[in-house]
Formats: sequence, C-alpha cells, structure tokens
Amino acid sequence: MARKQITTGFSCGCSHINIQRRVKMTKGQALLRKEVFGGTLFNSDSGKRAYINRDEYESISQSGSVPEHLQREIQLSTDSVLIREPSYLPGNNFSAPDTIFFEITRACNINCTFCFNNSGRRMSNEMSDAQRLRLVQDLINSGVQEVRLTGGEPLVVNVVYDIIRLLRRNGLRTSIGTNGILVKPDIARRLADVGLNLAVVSVDGMRSVHDSIRGAGSFRKTMKGIIELKHVGIPVRVNTVVMKSNIDEVVRVTEFFSNLSVPVMIRRLIPAGRADNMSGEMLSQEEYEVLRKRLGHLTSDSTKHVRGHYIKDDKVAPRISLPFERQSCSAGHRGMVVLPDGNVQTCGFLGPLGEMSVGNLVNERFSGVWRKLVDSQHIESMRFLLPGYNSSTSGPKTNCLAIALALKSSDVQPLHFMRSK
Ligand SMILES: C[S@@+](CC[C@H](N)C(=O)[O-])C[C@H]1O[C@@H](n2cnc3c(N)ncnc32)[C@H](O)[C@@H]1O
Ligand code: SF4
Repeated sequence: MARKQITTGFSCGCSHINIQRRVKMTKGQALLRKEVFGGTLFNSDSGKRAYINRDEYESISQSGSVPEHLQREIQLSTDSVLIREPSYLPGNNFSAPDTIFFEITRACNINCTFCFNNSGRRMSNEMSDAQRLRLVQDLINSGVQEVRLTGGEPLVVNVVYDIIRLLRRNGLRTSIGTNGILVKPDIARRLADVGLNLAVVSVDGMRSVHDSIRGAGSFRKTMKGIIELKHVGIPVRVNTVVMKSNIDEVVRVTEFFSNLSVPVMIRRLIPAGRADNMSGEMLSQEEYEVLRKRLGHLTSDSTKHVRGHYIKDDKVAPRISLPFERQSCSAGHRGMVVLPDGNVQTCGFLGPLGEMSVGNLVNERFSGVWRKLVDSQHIESMRFLLPGYNSSTSGPKTNCLAIALALKSSDVQPLHFMRSK
C-alpha cells in the first residue's frame, strides 16, 4: 500500500543538498538517493542495494512507495521509503558515497602489532562530541546510506551510542568495527537498544596467535564480547587479516566461526602504519591459490557466508547499466573515510600512506567535499599506479589503490594528491 509522502522542507543550510522527503520511519524502510542514472535504493536492515533507472526513480518518488519487485530484490518487508536528493548529480560518480568509515578516535585499549593507522593514543585535535554529532547529521543529509564507526576502538568513546541512535533514527545502516574486548553485557544491551545493525569483530587467529598480535588475554575477552553481542541479537561478522605467519590460523578461524554461522571476511594485510615494514608478510599469488583451495568447502557453501580479498567476493553485475564504471575499489567512489579530526580521505589505508585530505568536516559540509573530489583528478591520478604495480608484482593482481601505493616502485614520481614529506 502506498504511503502518503510528507515534504518536511528540511534544509541542511548549504547549497548542495536540496531536499529530504520523509515518509513515516518504520523498521525495514528503504533509503533512496537520487543519481544521474536514476537512484540507489538501499535496505539498511538487510544491507542490500539496487540501482534503479530514472523511470523507476520518478515512479517511486511520485508514489512514495517501493514496488514489489524491488522490495524483493533488496529483501524489504514494507513499501515505505525515505528519499534524499543531492542537488549535484555528477556524471562520473555516485551523488554521495554509500558508506562512510568514521574513525571516531585513534584511542585504543590495545596495541596490535600491525595496526595500519597506529592507533593507541587519541589525536590531540580530535573533534568534540558536539562536532562529531553535527558531522554525523551532515553525513545523513548528504545522502550517505551506511556508516561504519571505527577507529581506534570506537567503544572507548561514550558518544558512540548517541551517534548510533542518530544514524538509526534517520534510517541509515550502522555498524561498528571493534576488537570486542570492551563488550560486556551492559555495553551489548546499550548497543542493541540504540539499534546497531552489525558488529564487525576482529579475530586474527585462535588463542595464542590472536594474543601474539593483539596482546595477552585478548582472545578470551573478544570471544566473550562476541557471545554478549549475539546474546542481545546484534548480528556479528568476523574480520580476519591474513599474513604469511597466520595462514593456518585464518583457516581455523574461518572454520570455527562458519560452523557457528558467523560470517567471516578475510582481509589482506596493508603495509602501512605499524605494518609499514611488514610487506614480507603479504601473501604471494601462489599462497592465495593454496588458501582458496583450503577454504573451498566453505566459500562454495552458500550457507556459510565466507568472503575475502582474492578469496571470494560477492560481485554481482549492476541490474542497470551505469554511465560510469562501478569500481571494485570503493575509495572515493562507494566509500570515504572521516578521521577523528574531521579530515576526509578516500580510504583509511591511503591516509597513512601519504594521501592528502580532500577536506575537513569541522569547517566544510560533506556534500561540498564530495563535489570537490569528484570534480578533481584525485582518483584518476591514483589509478594510474595500478597497471605499473600489477605488471611487476608477484602477489595477486589488484584493484586496491592502497596496495599499489604502498608497494609502488621507488622510481614512480610523487603524485599530486600526496603530502610532501
Ligand atoms: C583499525 S581497526 C579499528 C577497529 C577495531 N579497533 C578493530 O581492531 O577491529 C579496523 C580493521 O582494520 C584491520 N587492520 C588493522 N591493521 C591492518 C593492516 N595493516 N592491514 C589490514 N587490516 C588491518 C583490523 O584488524 C580491523 O579489522
Ligand atoms: S587494529 Fe583495532 S584494536 Fe588493534 S590497535 Fe588498531 S585500532 Fe586498536
């Protein structure tokens, strides 16, 4: 049944975003963002997304309801939709990134050997809570559909609950990336109460290997944290970083969690931050081949939900053709990163490798920063690194700009988006 659409007359106070039209917020409501090709339709509960054409966009926009075939595609249980219309629809990119990775602090309760952004101590110029909340409201207004709260350890910052509540009230999918250690029963309950959609918990080996990377006693506390999250009904995914020294352990972690029906994402090591001298730990093409075979019984089982860089991805062709290529690397395309001081970068890994910030959200609105990025040569100038890297590597061919940047040969000239040393 179509729901009546209400125009709120909402304005973010800047010239880039025109309208936010609101329909009664219900669980399972879709988000729709206008694009040059039509729109990006998103179900923040399932995390499913579909690109729709201009006719479909107009039809939803006028009726205020999502037709049944699109409801099925994004596993939506209602027809209601919240529409956001960024006023600038670039021809070479989406009108806003789908996901913002918001590093809310660099403070961390542990000190992992490989941490790419050197987390531990808070930065001296981290935003205040009021600035963080204003920034999150700005992200909501800009058409972003998903926010991952990360760090550092997001659970060391108290305002995290208010941020999640604000995001969820506005229909955005909200997840945290956490080491899980601080998740006690009361913390898990608070996270559930504010509506967290997903906890992504890092596990890099079984007990002794995990503890050797993340500190004595970490494994036991993280496992307890996972149990508490599951207990209050928060979906959990495990992220595990694969290196030469923990390949066997990554197989064990993947089997262990898959058997408990917990999805697992196997991530490659990026040699940045505390890992900047660890490129020798990165897997070769042949080692990935062996790992793929060892995990084949899990990756081929659709009930197990195992994914991984160079292992298995969920790539599906977009349902409509887009006027630009949908890149597998999300940097500056489907994803952006906001740092604890408000600086905006295209990817969390690129900043520690020297990428300059595109803007700062203490003083600028996100829509303006996005426009600056998509109108610049920033992304194209990074992509030129890929062919050179791919033709010289013994590792797998990649679309990852961070890997290409970290391991580029020394005779590659500094790029204009790099900070000068
Ligand atoms: C920086 S942490 C922040 C969230 C939280 N503290 C945690 O550990 O999950 C975000 C993710 O990056 C991963 N990570 C850290 N250093 C990495 C590196 N050098 N290469 C690849 N992933 C890394 C962590 O394992 C974690 O899954
Ligand atoms: S990887 Fe996460 S838990 Fe480990 S030091 Fe970095 S921010 Fe902290």
